[in-house]
Amino acid sequence: MASNSLTITDNRTGKTYELPIEDGTVRAMDLRKIRTDAEDFGLMTYDPAYVNTASCRSSITYIDGDRGILEYRGYPIEVLAEHCTFLEVAYLVLFGKLPDQAELKEWVNEITHHTMLHETTKRFMEGFRYDSHPMAMFVSSVAALSTVYPEAKDVLDPENRMRQIKRLIAKMPTLAAMSYRHSVGFPYVYPDNDLSYTENFMNMLWKMVEPKYAANPVLARALDVLFILHADHEQNCSTSAMRAVGSSQADPYLSLSAAAAALSGPLHGGANEQVLKMLDEIGTKANVPAYIKKVKDGHGKLMGFGHRVYKNYDPRAKIIKWTADQVFEVTGRNARLDIALELERIALEDEYFVQRKLYPNVDFYSGIIYQAVGFRPEFFTVLFAIPRTVGWLAQWEEMHRDAEQKIARPRQIYTGGRKLAFIPMEERQGAVAVK
Ligand code: ACO
Repeated sequence: MASNSLTITDNRTGKTYELPIEDGTVRAMDLRKIRTDAEDFGLMTYDPAYVNTASCRSSITYIDGDRGILEYRGYPIEVLAEHCTFLEVAYLVLFGKLPDQAELKEWVNEITHHTMLHETTKRFMEGFRYDSHPMAMFVSSVAALSTVYPEAKDVLDPENRMRQIKRLIAKMPTLAAMSYRHSVGFPYVYPDNDLSYTENFMNMLWKMVEPKYAANPVLARALDVLFILHADHEQNCSTSAMRAVGSSQADPYLSLSAAAAALSGPLHGGANEQVLKMLDEIGTKANVPAYIKKVKDGHGKLMGFGHRVYKNYDPRAKIIKWTADQVFEVTGRNARLDIALELERIALEDEYFVQRKLYPNVDFYSGIIYQAVGFRPEFFTVLFAIPRTVGWLAQWEEMHRDAEQKIARPRQIYTGGRKLAFIPMEERQGAVAVK
């Protein structure tokens, strides 16, 4: 018997099976040969919310949730945040290696020259109500880009895929800035190709009548670091949406819009907006213990706390805390930081949070910085979606190159009725639902 195998005895039949173990997993399809008789479909796994199922092989992002480790392509996040620019990290995440000087120059040049949007984009942006949520505008307008690039449908052509990848990374800040300017009623600002990725984003957000926008270098670097921290995070809810929709061979604009929609939820990337609302609701440090008690009593969650994978401090939250100090030197301290620090202090000592291994996640401190820099809470999740576009696309590309992948299609355990006798309309009153 091979040592790297699993022996299963089916007590229904008394039969024994030996399944190979590879990379700490057994193949779910190997379970199908475990049957009671020839008519039996075979054994399946039941895993609501995929808490213990690997759906792909990936060499992009490594997370050790128990030790609080995050690496992109093998490089620790702390090192990348300290030494790289966001576009350098984007290259690493997409192509699997750090670019040399010539490669980086060409990459930055290509991204910079795809930042313009088709003029019709302005018109569909103008169709939104002035008070539309920026994330809803963002999700819809990314999908609408599919109408501008019909050739993107040819997802089986690697060169075509790469063209769309560059376009999407380049155009996300432009779309995001447009959604912001629309919501405040300002005219749109065109990209400035002399500026870096994040400086240009700031230019498109905040330029008014000055001939040339000059970004504060500390704030531009802080935004770049935040973008690095958000570039990828392996098979989370939005990335799984990207892969699932992309697996049907839908084009990357439509697939990415689905991923962004998944990100918008308050349990995922939408949490950063909710954290700010929560801090405002708490109001003062003195109210923190009462708020924690409320959460422990089952009334709501501590937003920005807890993670499916991290059962230790989220390494991104640590870097964000350091970045906050630099930002506050320019902007002045955001008073909400004191409430957040007090929340963290009490929660990390409290039995409820300790027992459940609930630590601050990336969203806990990011909003405090974003707000200090001048963003409204409604815009925070858009700020998450811009860099995560890189991760979504890297994962989408990896999926297309993976010969084992097919259209994503989970199974179910059917719990409804069967072969019911049809009830004519005149006899239906008072009929009860079959559960
Ligand atoms: N506040 C209070 N209790 C919590 C929290 C929280 N933030 N998070 C989890 N718990 C509790 C749960 O109620 C559960 O308690 P129980 O065992 O008594 O029922 C226990 O901790 C385990 O939590 P699950 O819900 O099983 O954890 P899961 O892995 O399904 O959820 C999630 C992870 C969604 C992130 C969750 O922790 C949460 O809702 N956090 C708040 C929202 C948030 O910050 N989301 C951002 C995540 S990071 C990101 O997506 C970018």
